Amino acid sequence: MAEALRVGIAGLGTVGASVARVLRDKADVLTRQCGRDIVVTAVSARDPKRDRGIDLSAAKWFDDPVKMAEKADIDVFVELIGGDEGPARLSVKAALEAGRHVVTANKALLAKHGVQLAEIAEKKGVLLNYEAAVAGGIPVIKTMREAMAGNAVTRVFGILNGTCNYVLTRMEAEGISFDACLKDAQRLGYAEADPTFDIEGHDTAHKLSILTSLAFGTKIAANDIYMEGISNITQADIRAAGDLGYRIKLLGVAQRTDSGIEQRVHPTMVPTASVIAQVHGVINAVAIETDILGELLLSGPGAGGNATASAVIGDIADIAKSRPGFQHAPVFGWPAKELKPYKRARMRSHAGGYFIRLTVHDRTGVFAAIAKRMADNDISLESIVQQAAGAETQAQKTVILVTHETTEAAVRKAVEGITKDGHLTDKPQVIRIERAE
Ligand SMILES: NC(=O)c1ccc[n+]([C@@H]2O[C@H](COP(=O)([O-])OP(=O)(O)OC[C@H]3O[C@@H](n4cnc5c(N)ncnc54)[C@H](OP(=O)(O)O)[C@@H]3O)[C@@H](O)[C@H]2O)c1
Repeated sequence: MAEALRVGIAGLGTVGASVARVLRDKADVLTRQCGRDIVVTAVSARDPKRDRGIDLSAAKWFDDPVKMAEKADIDVFVELIGGDEGPARLSVKAALEAGRHVVTANKALLAKHGVQLAEIAEKKGVLLNYEAAVAGGIPVIKTMREAMAGNAVTRVFGILNGTCNYVLTRMEAEGISFDACLKDAQRLGYAEADPTFDIEGHDTAHKLSILTSLAFGTKIAANDIYMEGISNITQADIRAAGDLGYRIKLLGVAQRTDSGIEQRVHPTMVPTASVIAQVHGVINAVAIETDILGELLLSGPGAGGNATASAVIGDIADIAKSRPGFQHAPVFGWPAKELKPYKRARMRSHAGGYFIRLTVHDRTGVFAAIAKRMADNDISLESIVQQAAGAETQAQKTVILVTHETTEAAVRKAVEGITKDGHLTDKPQVIRIERAE
């Protein structure tokens, strides 16, 4: 049997401790599958005394993950610290430069420095595997990078943040407000004490930027993403969506268009009957559309110790099975040096259907004025519905418009015009409609 694969794990928190535990519990199976043992020979975290629920005394302890990356007797450096700078970045870079394979779950690091790290990995002839960085346990990286060779991707979109999907699912199921739902999610441990990063779409954007690069062979452009979170979604939106045959999801979408690539993260209406609309709670899903395969949808657990560990261990097992001298798949599907610059399509040219909810004074002429602003901007309407705005006031009405395909620029201009007309009593709500099977 080949020599054991020696693994060093930096970061022994939720994911790191789970990886160590599964490697121990599944040692026999992994040995049979990989044709060699996988042994944890080095570990690093901040606190050497902390009980991590697993005996790691056989592994050499390092206070400094960079030193471990440079000096430990390891073949694979597994980075599970987190963060886009500091010890995570320095240790991954050091490990690659020392000619060691790297496995990481760190989307923030890859979104910011992925291309540079991929260049080092490819120059050194080592693997930089990161399956767990996007959609946790779902094997989307391997699917896009290896299983879909030759396919040209036209669009990739998904539910990439479990916290947002959990909040939207409960808002719809229980009719509770965003604030009440978020508070409960925090109490139950489904949302962080500071939920901004998840709720406002940053986490989804990091993951989307990696998928965009894989899909279109472009450099990662995490700062070039149109982003809106879910904090202004109300019960009125969710109810109106339901009445119209839609469900609201926070999607990350990357799409090739004539003017460049759209990368956008925002609340989206998807048809209630579509497959992605059936993805509830903390579950993640990624849909990939290509010229050869058509549409593929993967769904499953996007976070959590065991689910994430499953992806990390898959990456380690790939390294255990790789043969010396065998050409590795490029980190982002194309050689890092050949990734093209990202050409952003302007959001104003985005084409699609729109849901517009307006709260207006209940007086004559308002309906006609709204219809005129729409017509002036060449927006054709699929439906326009007028409702009482709520029992609390007789003085206002809600108008809900659903457009046929139009452009973002036209919708923004029409809504600006309606606002100027002085008929609105509240901020207008605009939600994009996404085509989904
Ligand atoms: N949790 C998930 O469900 C999930 C899902 C997908 C991806 N990820 C990614 O996986 C990574 C780890 O996440 P996590 O949830 O496991 O984080 P975590 O529970 O906060 O664990 C972080 C670990 O890093 C260690 N650490 C922090 N600073 C260090 C330093 N300077 N030197 C050495 N060790 C250091 C900590 O040590 P101490 O324990 O001693 O404090 C801790 O063990 C992140 O990149 C995250 O984005 C997580």
